[in-house]
Amino acid sequence: MLKKLALGTLVLASSLFAANEVNVYSHRHYDTDKQLFKMFEEKTGIKVNVVKAKASALIKRIESEGKNSPADVLITVDAGRLYQATEKDLLQSIDSDYLTKNIPAQLRDKDNKWFALTKRSRVAVYKLGTGIEKELKTYEDLADPKFKGKIMVRSSNNIYNQSLMAAMIAHHGEEKALEWAKGVVANMAKKPKGNDRYQVKAVANGIGEIAIANTYYIGKMVDNKEVAQAEAVKKVKILFPKFENGGTHINVSGAGVAKYAPNKENAIKFVEFLASPDAQELFAKGNFEYPVLKGVKASKLVSSWGTFEDDTISINTLGENNAKAVKIFDQAGWR
Ligand code: FE2
Repeated sequence: MLKKLALGTLVLASSLFAANEVNVYSHRHYDTDKQLFKMFEEKTGIKVNVVKAKASALIKRIESEGKNSPADVLITVDAGRLYQATEKDLLQSIDSDYLTKNIPAQLRDKDNKWFALTKRSRVAVYKLGTGIEKELKTYEDLADPKFKGKIMVRSSNNIYNQSLMAAMIAHHGEEKALEWAKGVVANMAKKPKGNDRYQVKAVANGIGEIAIANTYYIGKMVDNKEVAQAEAVKKVKILFPKFENGGTHINVSGAGVAKYAPNKENAIKFVEFLASPDAQELFAKGNFEYPVLKGVKASKLVSSWGTFEDDTISINTLGENNAKAVKIFDQAGWR
């Protein structure tokens, strides 16, 4: 009897201990997240343990850990990877009134296996004084020979580019998408290298005239201690291209709860927190992303770049077309 009681107490104690943490596998690589996680810890007393890596590596890890995976939450910086995690059956439906009520249907999985937390737009950043803004209106334009030697864009193994291509396929089909990719490759100022900020800096410094980048990187460059970045960004401006038959390409950073999450309740609380007004404001102000929660505005700086209409294709399509996108990049010689 005594022994049983002791064991029961032990089980209770360990479950209490387990209830006080959440294990987050995250591909987000931004400073604001540390602040957000701390805010959550202070508010709830739940400790946030973070494993940071690329989404593809995190997905592989959850897959190989199987039922024993300690992962509670998977956060990615792209819809394509969230889709992949869902396809591999690594996430579970989240039953949360708050999330379903506040995150629009087009910004979450159909079975509520993941929810977008922020939106970002993939745009053209052009050198001031070049007149590019008069000539470049659409993503399709980027393949026009008039931009030969003017485009700076990162490698095709980057998920942001893959999702842009996935959207191009959704709008025009694979054949036209391949033609487009070949056109862009022919217009490149240099072989793809470096990240989004690298492309923007290059354009600011006279290598090419158009950089393809995610919006928030411009905000991070303006708000940067590194003089070279802050100075470079003064020489460029954002332009929101559209698809000929759609709007401006947007992608999302989002989160899902792992299928075998040992701390499921905490995981849901954590995702709800990231979609709360306080957290959404920090995403907007601290990382220059577009909040997904109604009523939370983009930062002053981000708003100053102007408005645009979100593209019409579903966010899920970015994931569905990912494999085709990778293949087309390869065929087009976009390294
Ligand atoms: Fe990023």
